[in-house]
Amino acid sequence: MPQLLKVEVLENVRLITLQRPEALNALNTQLLGELAQALGLAQEDTDTRAVVITGSAKAFAAGADINEMAERDLAGILNDPRIASWQHITAFNKPLIAAVNGYALGGGCELAMHADILIAGRDALFGQPEINLGIMPGAGGTQRLLRAVGKSLAMQMVLTGEPISARQAQQAGLVSEVTEPELTVERALAIARKIATKAPLAVRLAKEALLKAQDTDLASGLRFERHAFTVLAGTQDRNEGIQAFQQKRSPRFVGA
Ligand code: CAA
Repeated sequence: MPQLLKVEVLENVRLITLQRPEALNALNTQLLGELAQALGLAQEDTDTRAVVITGSAKAFAAGADINEMAERDLAGILNDPRIASWQHITAFNKPLIAAVNGYALGGGCELAMHADILIAGRDALFGQPEINLGIMPGAGGTQRLLRAVGKSLAMQMVLTGEPISARQAQQAGLVSEVTEPELTVERALAIARKIATKAPLAVRLAKEALLKAQDTDLASGLRFERHAFTVLAGTQDRNEGIQAFQQKRSPRFVGA
């Protein structure tokens, strides 16, 4: 079967490009499976410190594959292998940055929201148009969108199916930066490279703590943060970071 994505290893950063142009990168089972596998390999590789995921100029991803969905009945949806792929993507424990140009719709918007940082080209469109198909978001769209943009805008997007622009997405807090479309990937890579210079264990625990803030109460989140902070006190990289500061030199982090 043809590969539906390209993985480039750029020193400590991996760039994953969705490549299913004939269907605007619609996330069929194969593409989602390849993506889950690519992230699994990136997680295993100790030299990989961050991953950027992108699509094409026209589409980051236009959603789940509607033709594939049409063939699934209730039992098919319950036993959908895509659920396992989404779980793998959710569990990815290194920084994931989405560089979004063009359409990020349905599952495409949901995939972008799995990223820790979203950078969007000026022409990007984020939407959850499932309602137009008589269905609703099923890969985290209702939960992550509400947390990202608040109740009113999330309701509006999900219930009308109307997308929002990159600027609106930035104003609402879904996206952290808007760039010229041709610079989106470069900007995302620059952020990934910057993160790649930091202590990997600190990055990993900081990501975990930030994600906790989305799904736990303040007291539990603060407890988790304190534990994670304490764990880092036992790392070699913490000593290195502090020594490098005191000796007025750049730290050399080893991930231990
Ligand atoms: N699934 C399958 N094929 C898709 C697709 C999708 N989600 N989105 C686009 N395509 C295909 C089109 O069928 C078309 O193929 P053909 O050339 O063979 O006809 C090709 O991609 C190009 O698309 P268009 O001709 O439609 O391009 P356009 O520029 O006129 O319109 C668009 C672009 C507005 C994104 C339009 O393609 C569109 O509305 N796509 C569907 C978006 C959508 O509803 N996404 C949600 C899917 S459901 C979901 O995602 C649920 C979930 O996660 C759980």
